[in-house]
Amino acid sequence: MFRIERPLGLALMIAMTAAPAAGQSAKDAPITIAVDIAAAGPKIDRNLFGQFAEHLGTGIYGGVWVGRDSSIPNVRGIRKDVVAALKAIKVPNVRWPGGCFADEYHWRDGIGPAKNRGVSINSNWGGAIEPNSFGTDEFFDFIDQIGSEAYVSVNVGSGTVKEAADWMAYMTADAKTTAGKERAANGHPAPYKVKYLGLGNETWGCGGSYTGAEYVALMRPFARFVRNYNPAQTGEETMQRIAVGPDGKGTDYTEAVMKAQKEHNWAWNIEGLSLHSYTTAGWPPAYASENFDEAAYATLVKAALNMEDLVKTHAAIMDKYDPGKKVPLVVDEWGVWLKPTAGTDPGFLQQQNSLRDAIIAAIHLNGFARHADRVKMSNIAQMINVLQAMILTDKDKMILTPTYHLFKMYVPFQDATFVPAKFNAGTYTHAGATLPRVDAIAARDTAGKMWLTVTNVDPNRPVRIDARFAGLTVRGARGEVLTAPRFDSVNSFAAPDAVSPKPFVGTPSRGGVTLDVPAKSVVVVQIDE
Ligand code: AHR
Repeated sequence: MFRIERPLGLALMIAMTAAPAAGQSAKDAPITIAVDIAAAGPKIDRNLFGQFAEHLGTGIYGGVWVGRDSSIPNVRGIRKDVVAALKAIKVPNVRWPGGCFADEYHWRDGIGPAKNRGVSINSNWGGAIEPNSFGTDEFFDFIDQIGSEAYVSVNVGSGTVKEAADWMAYMTADAKTTAGKERAANGHPAPYKVKYLGLGNETWGCGGSYTGAEYVALMRPFARFVRNYNPAQTGEETMQRIAVGPDGKGTDYTEAVMKAQKEHNWAWNIEGLSLHSYTTAGWPPAYASENFDEAAYATLVKAALNMEDLVKTHAAIMDKYDPGKKVPLVVDEWGVWLKPTAGTDPGFLQQQNSLRDAIIAAIHLNGFARHADRVKMSNIAQMINVLQAMILTDKDKMILTPTYHLFKMYVPFQDATFVPAKFNAGTYTHAGATLPRVDAIAARDTAGKMWLTVTNVDPNRPVRIDARFAGLTVRGARGEVLTAPRFDSVNSFAAPDAVSPKPFVGTPSRGGVTLDVPAKSVVVVQIDE
């Protein structure tokens, strides 16, 4: 409940004498956030802000790919509006082609001239026809256009080691080889860079229902033989192999994979362990994505807090096998999973995205940042039109969701240095759910500037924050606030800017800064030193 138990003494007493924020009850004392600027923490890896794009519903077809002949403005078939929007949030990596889809994906169906593309059925997601018009070369074109890295998941579930190895050769081998020649004939002589390689997906579920030990035996030959031949991928650029890890419940995979990694011989290794967990509060997902009440708001925000507990649990197991923290935890599927939008194909997992979801995203990102020594990458599910999306499209129209705006506000935290902040979060209680009222993280960006983000979870009470930076001369704070009239406010095609960031200014106060943070909002400010 409380981030710290230690009273903050003088700083808190000074803060308590300040006048309350507009709308704040006189009995609400300000919350003091003490930022320990002398205690620099780990780097908040920019990959924590990664995306996931599966062949699912209109996530790819319609969302990214419209085809070269479309009247929707595109570059080589890829939507221009979507590319521009994604560039603005500096997407560090995109996980593709799935998800469950990846375990039935056969890469050869998706290369070469249109007439050679295999047409199949997307058995996981609504039985949709998969035209394979968006395949390997289109994916690399897309990530090149948005300036992102590739996180490719190979088919471990229904494919073979040879199929995956051949795919990797197609992507990365020299153009003098047979595989490289084929790529060159398809328009790309230079090897692609595959920075991250997923060795299967949810092998405890849709990926084959294996135990942790069974998965280790299955995965090892993939880790050994799916070789990256790109000569430029050495040192920092070396490909990282990410093994399947736990779901939100058991620890079998974490134990089995980390034990195997500790005992690995020269012939194989992994450089990451995946974790998947969605915010649902029950299964199947029954909570609405719009027009919901405060009980639904409180329940799902509370459910989102589970992620940081999961990270702690699995990080502790990983520490046992890997005390040097060489193997990162990669949360490559997370987000709010809600009831599908009425009138849409339930297999397309389409849902609206409200202010609540942006608050939930902030809670996740803050939790990952607090464990940035172990969590080096995360991928929100999913980028466009699916689950907790950044972007919704409808034919030629596109809107940016509250979660998109949150990701944009957090751009300064990419590769920033985490700076510990202590605060008493207070509580927000509704319908039997009690949760911390406030969350916050601080960091120094790559240019040395100090940033602070504060989330006020309470939908009814604004909060005055008294932010202290011992040793800094603070002149003020400027940034943005994301809020809306209601916690279930959404952006729609009719009202695309109902939830969008507005300028926000803090006021200097005795060596610190006062931030009047509205109810149900996220504030991100740069501290003027
Ligand atoms: O993101 C939707 C699905 O959720 C993914 O395909 C799967 O990996 C997970 O269960």
